[in-house]
Amino acid sequence: MSPIPKAELHLHIEGTLEPELAFALAERNGVDLPYASRDDLRAAYSFSGLQSFLDLYYSLMAVLRTEDDFADLAHAYLARAREQGVRHAEIFFDPQAHTARGVPLDTVINGLGRALDTAPETYGITTRLIMCFLRDESAESALETFESARPHLHRIAGVGLDSAEVGNPPSAFREVYARARAAGLKCVAHAGEEGPPSYVWEALDVLGVDRVDHGVRSLEDAALVARLVADQVPLTVCPLSNVRLRVYDRLADHPLRLMLDAGLLVTVNSDDPAYFGGYVDDNFTAVRDALGLDEETLRTLARNSFQAAFLDEPTRQAYLAEVDAHRA
Ligand code: ADE
Ligand code: ZN
Repeated sequence: MSPIPKAELHLHIEGTLEPELAFALAERNGVDLPYASRDDLRAAYSFSGLQSFLDLYYSLMAVLRTEDDFADLAHAYLARAREQGVRHAEIFFDPQAHTARGVPLDTVINGLGRALDTAPETYGITTRLIMCFLRDESAESALETFESARPHLHRIAGVGLDSAEVGNPPSAFREVYARARAAGLKCVAHAGEEGPPSYVWEALDVLGVDRVDHGVRSLEDAALVARLVADQVPLTVCPLSNVRLRVYDRLADHPLRLMLDAGLLVTVNSDDPAYFGGYVDDNFTAVRDALGLDEETLRTLARNSFQAAFLDEPTRQAYLAEVDAHRA
């Protein structure tokens, strides 16, 4: 059976760097990796929380140096995504994680853009790029990053906020979000992954986000849930990520079903699939099995993904019709 058609809305392109490609790029670029083999690297994918993951994730990015590297990374993701039933992907990238290593922003955006330009024809996937600011860097650095990206804004659909959450609340980034919105960009932010519900409130009320990434800790605040339901603010939930980063002990403990039952506009996504044990359809299958979700609920999740996507209405309706036409 073919996987159900879906949109992927929470996907860090750097988090699709598989060990095979990491070693190939290390060799191509003469970068020494502190791992003897791919298996040795994979064995390091045991995380105690978000920060322990981020430490490895940023260090492995050292292999990404040239436009070709970024294009190869995006092609590899798109090929996987097609196999997973992805018809539309909204893809995060972290410019500061590359510019801080001396890789120019042009290199990153031109490399990714070159691959994404081929995506509709080669992979049958439409795409958007979302530029994320690192919340553990300063608001000034985010502003500088945004200003240096202005020549590329025709390639960028939105801005996001990621990296170490606790202690780095959204409100510090008010100004850069205001500039992004004034430039016509969509706004999203990671909030309520490890951080408290107050960060989700700030993402909504200070940054004015169109979607919340993760948002699972919103369940701790009934008034926040009521707000998210009333406004149908989409939440891009990442179940396998939440277990690998110890937000929940086991997938069976994941509140995805509770969130759906509460009336939240929930989507299922992969976050950093090379590190967390599965791409987006693997997440669908894993929650189906762990939470006993039926086909109708999986169809709701697929429909939600297109409802929550940054698409024009005719394209959205065409994708929703594909979901309805897909029969198990
Ligand atoms: N960067 C990549 N994955 C992330 C996550 N799950 N949370 C915050 N920042 C990230
Ligand atoms: Zn994420």
